[in-house]
Amino acid sequence: MLRTHVGPRELRRLPEGVAPRPYHRFEVAPLSPAIGAEIAGVDLGTPPDDELLAELHRALLEWRVLFFRDQRIDARQHAAFARRWGELEVHPFLPQGELPEIVRFEKDARTGGYENIWHSDVSWRVVPSMGSVLRCIETPACGGDTLWADMACAYDALPAGVRQRIDGLVAVHDFAGSFGLAMTAQQIDELRAQYPPAEHPVVRRHPETGRRTLYVNEIFTSHVKGLDPDESEALLDLLFRQARVPELQCRFRWTPDAVAFWDNRATQHYAVSDYAGQRRVMERATIVGDRPF
Ligand code: SIN
Repeated sequence: MLRTHVGPRELRRLPEGVAPRPYHRFEVAPLSPAIGAEIAGVDLGTPPDDELLAELHRALLEWRVLFFRDQRIDARQHAAFARRWGELEVHPFLPQGELPEIVRFEKDARTGGYENIWHSDVSWRVVPSMGSVLRCIETPACGGDTLWADMACAYDALPAGVRQRIDGLVAVHDFAGSFGLAMTAQQIDELRAQYPPAEHPVVRRHPETGRRTLYVNEIFTSHVKGLDPDESEALLDLLFRQARVPELQCRFRWTPDAVAFWDNRATQHYAVSDYAGQRRVMERATIVGDRPF
């Protein structure tokens, strides 16, 4: 685990040997040194041209999560923006918005938040997500923030012995421990035929930056293959703790029409569920990625 008492600590935002370069098409205001930047001067309602797309993509790889305020876009524009990065998935378990590719998180006095656990979206899929675009429709007067953690820095911060130990290990990710809680055993079995448990490396290599990234998360990772259950649980507990280190995180205060765009291959996120009795409405488009290696 990162020794937070030995600080301030240098956290690597870019891959080794890559120097930061300026952006010409928008302003960048970092939320924290390691992860997260607010982008000003971009209208997500207008399809980005190739140059803007390339700059936004470079910023996503550098900052892992980008934030845009005051984006008055509808579900179609939201999906169209996300689609510039790849095919969108249709989530089989979460409620849909206006389009099948849009997931709607609608919380109020009767329905609480369930996303207050660290995760990377749909890691239970054999081919999980590249990134997600989340749009705020309604937010509580206070509360309902979301946090992101950088899982490349989380890997770098592990003691060398732990890094060595997890090198080459494979973990199993499964929808049953979360979405399955509301299903019967028979329903789970039927769905397992369509969504079998996925095996992913505990440490994946980011396909674009080449950085090693810790790819296990509290909600979807059930166990490490080949370890006895106690050993697997102890190891996962240790690895899950990395996402909780404040130095590796940023926290975003939502305002209506704000949008977050993050890299699921490099981050985990946590929606703070501290707004009991208030309404919070968000919609998400999730971009299909590639098979972790
Ligand atoms: C999610 O887990 O993708 C939703 C996050 C949020 O509602 O802030």
